[in-house]
Amino acid sequence: MLDKIESLKSEASSESGIIKDGKSLEDFRLKYLSRNGLLNSLFEEFKEVSRESKGVVGKNLNELKVYLHKIYDEKKQTIETLSGKNSETEDISMPGLKYNKGTKHLINSALDEILDIFGRIGFRIYESDEIEDEYHNFDALNTPDYHPSRDMQDTFYIDSKGKDKKYLLRSHTSTGQIRVMENNTPPIRVIVPGKCYRNEAISARSLAFFHQFEVLYVDKNVTFRELKGTLNYFAKEFFGEQLKTRLRPSFFPFTEPSAEFDVECFLCKGQGCRVCKYTGWLEIGGAGMVDPNVFEIIGYDPEVYSGYAFGMGLERTLMIKYGIPDIRLFYENDVRFLKQF
Ligand code: PHE
Repeated sequence: MLDKIESLKSEASSESGIIKDGKSLEDFRLKYLSRNGLLNSLFEEFKEVSRESKGVVGKNLNELKVYLHKIYDEKKQTIETLSGKNSETEDISMPGLKYNKGTKHLINSALDEILDIFGRIGFRIYESDEIEDEYHNFDALNTPDYHPSRDMQDTFYIDSKGKDKKYLLRSHTSTGQIRVMENNTPPIRVIVPGKCYRNEAISARSLAFFHQFEVLYVDKNVTFRELKGTLNYFAKEFFGEQLKTRLRPSFFPFTEPSAEFDVECFLCKGQGCRVCKYTGWLEIGGAGMVDPNVFEIIGYDPEVYSGYAFGMGLERTLMIKYGIPDIRLFYENDVRFLKQF
């Protein structure tokens, strides 16, 4: 019996050399491993082996079984790899897998574009922190704590127990005006892009956070006319055509005089439609000449320096430009929306 096992093993070993394709592999399987194959017939014979020899013979027989299966598995693998795996099930005429390529988020590509528009006329980017103290968000912007305009913005305060100051999430990028003036001397020409936070009820028009960009120019003899010229330049570059603009008198504690900035409704060209609520105009931001009180707080002489500032909501501006009806669309990450830009 042991001899038979040994000779079957060497026979299989030499025959394994001729296994080259599916057909010869199958022949091998039929001869050695199938139900009526040689291995099974040895197992049949094994039943007759005397009790004393069963241990040794059984062990050898099992080793033979493992050996034959190993040959079969290895050959099968090689043949499959050579012929292209599962060539019977693979349809090479099928179209390839589709990969969804990512794109820049509309917010980021618009910011790039806006930074570039202002970069072309000499404005540098200034980044300011999202966590701020009350001083930079309010006091230095001429808004002391008794000032009613603090209520204009519902601010998120941060638990500042044990801290030297009261901290908050900046409610506007105007904080950047103070930061940049504290750290530089005029002439200053900067754009401050970034996220702002306000405790607003969430709706189609407002979220608890949004993006603004703040533009500040401080020098000698800066005039309101330059402010208007810059706003017009921006409107033309960004909306891509000569839309009319207008400034409406308004109030901000840190600018004097102050204005709200409207552009002609891009849809109806001022005729009046649903988007502009039949006014012909869309509001896109606040603006004004830097209040002399702010210069004094910073330590600039208001008799020497003047400046203008304006701030715009980015989402709001994009909603106007692209006719996006709901601000929440920006942050749902639905590719059907994002892919359109
Ligand atoms: N910070 C103001 C706001 O968020 C906008 C503004 C900026 C107004 C600069 C005037 C000058 O509403």
